[in-house]
Amino acid sequence: MTPYYEREGITIYHADCRDVLPALASVDVVITDPPYSEHVHSKSRRGADLTDGISRERSLGFDAITPDVMQFVSAEFARLARRWVLVFSNVELATDWRLALEVGGLEYIRTGAWVKLDSTPQFTGDRPAMGFETVTIAHCKGRKKWNGGGTQGVWSYPIVLNRSHKEPRLHTTQKPLDLMLRLVRLFTNENETILDPFCGSGTTLRAAKDLGRKAIGIEANEADCETAAKRLAQGVLSLA
Ligand SMILES: C[S@@+](CC[C@H](N)C(=O)[O-])C[C@H]1O[C@@H](n2cnc3c(N)ncnc32)[C@H](O)[C@@H]1O
Repeated sequence: MTPYYEREGITIYHADCRDVLPALASVDVVITDPPYSEHVHSKSRRGADLTDGISRERSLGFDAITPDVMQFVSAEFARLARRWVLVFSNVELATDWRLALEVGGLEYIRTGAWVKLDSTPQFTGDRPAMGFETVTIAHCKGRKKWNGGGTQGVWSYPIVLNRSHKEPRLHTTQKPLDLMLRLVRLFTNENETILDPFCGSGTTLRAAKDLGRKAIGIEANEADCETAAKRLAQGVLSLA
């Protein structure tokens, strides 16, 4: 398959990741942020309940993940990854990801959390607002090593807002670049290859490039591929 973008060790494919993953040989680490569960997508469509802080828009612009896709990509992650596999999700989906990754053949290690600073309060005031997302952390069987010593898997960073001057908002569910830089530093080493098969606007790829890692991104939406390619063509954005 011809890449949409290929430069300085970063490759992007414009495709459904299920068509590309079987053709890949191996990667070092998977760090990915797939679509959320229907629970989050339907809330966003209604537009009335903005408590998850994920989006103020009526639609996220892509479909919710399905159990079939979770099982398929989990088996591919187990086949491809030499080390860590990190999967972002809404909290309600974390156990399903753990199970899918284990069935795929990976060892479940821990559930981390991104504490979403400045996320939307519960406007109705009748229940607590949701203020974090989970990161299901798995590893292939064998020795584990990360760069965080004994520190906790809890990472607090502000969400990317439309009004942010520091970081332009390029995607409805964009991850903060500083968060992805932190995860890339913690879970990968220089020159390793990171796979993000749901790469959206390319935040993982951008962090990989800024830190001297190689990366493969896959994205089904062509406009997002274009955004990611433009982002990668810019100079180093942040080394926070
Ligand atoms: C949660 S977003 C990722 C956002 C990204 N982390 C960022 O910072 O921009 C998930 C992305 O996966 C894409 N996607 C959904 N299903 C896909 C599939 N089967 N193959 C490839 N990309 C897919 C969506 O178009 C969406 O851009």
